[in-house]
Amino acid sequence: MSLTNVTTETSIAPLRTKLDQCRASGATVGFVPTMGFLHDGHGSLMRTASERNDVVVASIFVNPLQFAPNEDLDRYPRNLEGDTAIAATNGVDHLFVPTVDEMYPQGNVLTNISVSDLSERWDGVSRPEHFGGVATVVSKLFNIIGPCHAYFGEKDYQQLAIVRRMVTDLSIPVEVVGCPTLREADGLAMSSRNSLLTTEDRAAAVVLRRALDRGMELHGDGETDPERIVAAMTEVVSAEPRARLDYAAAVDPTSIRVPEVLGADARLLIAAWFGTTRLIDNTASTVGGAGQAFTETQQSPTG
Ligand code: PAF
Repeated sequence: MSLTNVTTETSIAPLRTKLDQCRASGATVGFVPTMGFLHDGHGSLMRTASERNDVVVASIFVNPLQFAPNEDLDRYPRNLEGDTAIAATNGVDHLFVPTVDEMYPQGNVLTNISVSDLSERWDGVSRPEHFGGVATVVSKLFNIIGPCHAYFGEKDYQQLAIVRRMVTDLSIPVEVVGCPTLREADGLAMSSRNSLLTTEDRAAAVVLRRALDRGMELHGDGETDPERIVAAMTEVVSAEPRARLDYAAAVDPTSIRVPEVLGADARLLIAAWFGTTRLIDNTASTVGGAGQAFTETQQSPTG
């Protein structure tokens, strides 16, 4: 882990100039887009970016476009001082912290990037405008940062699939790299939203990991009926009275569609409410791979 003097930039133009100069001198650029309130999951993306690139830039921008009016934009946690320290200790050279005015100077945004199909299921059902907002801001960030390697956590698996597809469809000169989810000691996926949970809901939220483990166990033992796997995951969540399941799914890892028969490699997805906070999680699952289920001694084995 390298210690750097991180510089904070709030404007697009000077950041672009700096990064263009870096590339002109032959340096590679690693980019970690975030909404701040950083935790070690972000830290691991930054460390990977730093190990593999000459210059690392991370953005902190709580993007209003990806929150519906009834969602948690206003209570989304923020801590720029803490974030700067985490970025500095994880190899970030430049923090890009634009205001909403800098990103959307006209106020309203008339151009929206929509990645159809992939955006329309799972989280896209509960949050119909979310992925349009994500794709729009990520494409804008990619235009600002320029050619780079961009690091995304697998915890947001659907987001990662959408960003990959957008980059391919639009020939954006960015290589998207998916990185494993980091977990707390009890298996809960690290997320900035975990800080919004009450103590009781925080303890209950580990049920997400237990449900994924149950699904992996069944699939690992050779069950290929997605409905049976989902039923088993649902049963685990039902046993936790503080959890309200949004969806559980067993899908093809690339199309994120439910196949009639699951292949040897699948992705299990889950989302649930704990009080007013909605959490998501997912894992890779492989026939014959039941032994990979999370145990409390592991830190971050899977996405
Ligand atoms: O995953 C996130 O933190 C956000 O969706 C992202 C990619 C930074 C876009 O706002």
